[in-house]
Amino acid sequence: MTRHAPAKAASTTVPVHPLLAERWSPRGFDREHQLGDEALTALLEAARWAPSSQNSQPWRFLVTRRGEDAHGRLFAALGPGNQAWAGAASALVLVAARTAADDGGPQRWALYDTGQAVAALVTQAQADGLSVHQIGGFDTAAVRADFGLDSTLTPIVILAIGRRDGTAELPEPLAAREAAPRARRPLGDLLLLPAAAESVPTAA
Ligand SMILES: Cc1cc2nc3c(=O)[nH]c(=O)nc-3n(C[C@H](O)[C@H](O)[C@H](O)COP(=O)(O)O)c2cc1C
Repeated sequence: MTRHAPAKAASTTVPVHPLLAERWSPRGFDREHQLGDEALTALLEAARWAPSSQNSQPWRFLVTRRGEDAHGRLFAALGPGNQAWAGAASALVLVAARTAADDGGPQRWALYDTGQAVAALVTQAQADGLSVHQIGGFDTAAVRADFGLDSTLTPIVILAIGRRDGTAELPEPLAAREAAPRARRPLGDLLLLPAAAESVPTAA
């Protein structure tokens, strides 16, 4: 067990907004912090106003707060590595996307749109002094069954939301990860170069 107070702002080639640069995904959360109704509603409002294909708004949220029965059920679905820290967060929120229409037809942009809604929620949380750690490591089948999600809904992530506690004690290797600098690929790796003109097929 170690104590830490990491400074983990993104290192960027030019400045970006502090809300983006200073966001990161902690595992140390304040076990005493409660997520009040207004704070929670601000996060959901931020998500609600995200853009989406044809304004379809396919995101759905199952909100549970620490101490509630449903919170315990969602927590039980987390993988062991995530259970080691996520219970201290003030809320666990299941994010699902409506990936099929009522007639069963696919909703092509549902996952993309839902990710955007979560990004808005995460940024609002950062602005409000809260932290969000997204969790893909959970049993989606168990969650689907336990919470009665119908076949049009795809569970995607569970959000651990709360107030970061830089002094929270974490088991290794999580404590080391909490203190480690954040890393990203260099910007150049993200850029696709246009194909050379001679390799582009010409129209018949
Ligand atoms: C879809 C998704 C699933 C993730 N699943 C987990 C997870 O199961 N456990 C975990 O500790 N972190 C998880 N993360 C957090 C990522 O590991 C983290 O965002 C990434 O390492 C970058 O770190 P940063 O958010 O601090 O910049 C997940 C993030 C996303 C977006």
